[in-house]
Amino acid sequence: MTQLVLRFLCVFIVVFLCGSSCDSTHSVLQEGREVVGVNHGLDGVIWVVQISDIHISSYHPNRASSLENLAGPLLAVINPSLVLITGDLTDAKSKDHLSRRQDRGEWLQYRQTINKVIEDSGLPEYAFYDLRGNHDMFGVPFVGSRLDYFSKYSISSSRNRTSSIQSITFKNSGWKHLFVGLDTSMKVGLRGPCNLFGHPTEEQLRKLDEELSQWDTCPPDNVTKLVFGHFPVSFTASAEHGSRLEYTLAKHSVGAYICGHLHKSFGPNLIHHHLLPKVEFHDCGNSTVNRKVEFWEWELGDWRKARTIRVIAIDQGHISFTDFSLSGLPVDAAHQREKWLPTLIVPTYPLDSYSMEQSAKPPYFMPSHDYVRSLIFSIQPPESVIARLYETTLGKLHLLEELEMVLKMKTGNSVYMYESPWQSAKYIDSANTQYSYKVSVVDVAGKVTESSLRSFSVQRKVSKLKKTWTEFLVMDLLWERAFVVLLRLALILFFILFICPKFILHFLLGNGRYEQWSYNLFRVGSQRLTVRRVFQLIAWFFIQGCTRTLIWWEQVFILLWLVLCPWFWGQVLGDGYPLGFMSIRGWMVQVNDSSPLYNDLGWPDILVIVIPYLYFVLLPLYFLIFTLSAEDFINKIDQVESSAVWQKKEKAFRTTSSEAKSSLPYKGLDKGEGGPFRCRWAWWIIMGGCLLVSVIHIGQVSAIAGAYGYMTVFASPGFAWPVPILMITTVFQSLSCRKH
Ligand SMILES: *[C@@H]1O[C@H](CO)[C@@H](O)[C@H](O)[C@H]1NC(C)=O
Ligand SMILES: *[C@@H]1O[C@H](CO)[C@@H](O)[C@H](O)[C@H]1NC(C)=O
Ligand SMILES: *[C@@H]1O[C@H](CO)[C@@H](O)[C@H](O)[C@H]1NC(C)=O
Ligand SMILES: *[C@@H]1O[C@H](CO)[C@@H](O)[C@H](O)[C@H]1NC(C)=O
Repeated sequence: MTQLVLRFLCVFIVVFLCGSSCDSTHSVLQEGREVVGVNHGLDGVIWVVQISDIHISSYHPNRASSLENLAGPLLAVINPSLVLITGDLTDAKSKDHLSRRQDRGEWLQYRQTINKVIEDSGLPEYAFYDLRGNHDMFGVPFVGSRLDYFSKYSISSSRNRTSSIQSITFKNSGWKHLFVGLDTSMKVGLRGPCNLFGHPTEEQLRKLDEELSQWDTCPPDNVTKLVFGHFPVSFTASAEHGSRLEYTLAKHSVGAYICGHLHKSFGPNLIHHHLLPKVEFHDCGNSTVNRKVEFWEWELGDWRKARTIRVIAIDQGHISFTDFSLSGLPVDAAHQREKWLPTLIVPTYPLDSYSMEQSAKPPYFMPSHDYVRSLIFSIQPPESVIARLYETTLGKLHLLEELEMVLKMKTGNSVYMYESPWQSAKYIDSANTQYSYKVSVVDVAGKVTESSLRSFSVQRKVSKLKKTWTEFLVMDLLWERAFVVLLRLALILFFILFICPKFILHFLLGNGRYEQWSYNLFRVGSQRLTVRRVFQLIAWFFIQGCTRTLIWWEQVFILLWLVLCPWFWGQVLGDGYPLGFMSIRGWMVQVNDSSPLYNDLGWPDILVIVIPYLYFVLLPLYFLIFTLSAEDFINKIDQVESSAVWQKKEKAFRTTSSEAKSSLPYKGLDKGEGGPFRCRWAWWIIMGGCLLVSVIHIGQVSAIAGAYGYMTVFASPGFAWPVPILMITTVFQSLSCRKH
């Protein structure tokens, strides 16, 4: 009992002391570097909030209103050291979603909303940190231009955070927490959809390197480094000379790279463990070391629809995060905060085994190994906090232990740190036993809140996350490389489809053997399917596809055009700026008379146009044309054979002479002698396929025309028109064959 009283006394003293000395000191060291001293009475602990992809829109006022009503009061409860707003602040889309351009009204609303959030949260303005996403650069020709509203209305700009790499360090009783903001949005902002990737420059990566090493000492200090940006690594292009962002991040043992951009739609597990085999860097005392390095990348869902916020906690070097979806909360009930504000539980130790690092790295000091710890954010003081530890054996969950957690620290009116000692040695996991825990809070009003179940591993065994294929595609694939592979593959496929069979055809036709060979393939009696015959049939299919010279040349011409010439031109920058050309190498545009002529902008962003066009329009169309040619041929053989059989029968009936000699039906092929009419169902299926391809093509072209201007895109010869022309030629030729 006396112990309990003593403990409460201690807590009281801590709270009292903190109450008088909690203020943080903020200073700007040099341009782009800020330092904040925090003193909330808890060594080495800091928590920040991340919000991403707000997409404030003139056509969806609820995004701003929900932010205004929910975020301010919630931030007042959480009282974070930093609020990171990682890009896509405004939506910058027209009502029909086709055209993407900056909307000053949206920016004014953004600023107004954030001002209200800052006011309601009671946090200092410097604690808010916003940066550009791709939407914030749609059609912005350069930073500082009249369309660059970020430079006018963002918090970062009013805080003079103008450089694209900025850092802010929080010092807390011997611990340093370094946050580096990284704005890799396009320097010449193209309009969407060709503005999808982060484009770091060599200069930016060098600066990032510099910012990340600002507290490096020998021996290493207690520094935790976090980098935040908008674009995931999978959607980040290489710099001019091929340097990649992930190497810079890995080299500095970054705790985590936190980003946005992908929203929630691809799945809930948008995280990626980067394990780079050999990264070269200067280690303490040693000049250059090669080491295997790792870091985590955590993508946050969006505010736009999912209304997600993330609390990231660093507890003496242990980084963890917990997401909260606010979509169920009443938007208009801002007045009765006690009623709707949830209790947020952010367990800080042990770490989630699905998102922790394998190796211990600086800071090596891990005192909290002996405690289960959790941050609790609640308006009502917690009355009892319990950690429940579970064992999972063969898929079954058993409760092993309940630990009564005690208050370690309280700061402000609503932030609590609870902890409980535990015997971590009891939780050594094995192949078929895993451990997990959850924290349950009962507050003085009797409300019960539970954290979600979190797996942990005291031996630092990272649990393998089962990702869905969409999660894998967006987080694990480097899309820049995938684009190169897909592009080359498409070109090789086209080559194999066209050029090779045409050569063979030339050779075979030259010898007059093609018709004989094709007829033999389909002659009645040779229907047995052997491997050889299947192979021959496939070869025949492609060769037959090349027999129509006009169409073949049309197809080759389209391909050559797409590889060598511009596809279309369009309004790729803001209104009033010059038009640009898109070719397979990227966009070519000159911003103004004094700027250079850029000729490969938006690489690899153009993949959103190139890949669907090649793979969903051209390849299927070319395949359909081949199929049509094959179908026509088979149909003719069919007609000739049936008419021959019919004639034979007629003759036999009339003359009863068995004179009818084995005719050579293929001789009549070209004239297509009419037989009894047969329904060509295959022909109709092919026409259905053509219709489908047309629908896809029309959809794509109208989306692009909506984005870059109807007049200009339709006036371009290389993109919209080849497909309909080719399709019409093919269908007419097939119809004329059919009529005979
Ligand atoms: C930003 O810079 C301007 C001009 O140097 C200065 O007047 C202003 O006080 C600065 N703002 C902040 C928030 O530091
Ligand atoms: C790191 O933090 C621990 C615990 O606060 C402390 O004992 C240690 O001296 C610190 N290391 C440095 C280099 O400051
Ligand atoms: C230098 O590197 C060697 C091996 O690469 C390692 O054993 C040694 O501890 C390193 N020294 C320092 C000071 O890190
Ligand atoms: C021309 O464009 C460049 C960026 O490419 C910009 O820095 C410069 O200020 C622009 N000049 C004028 C007169 O707008």
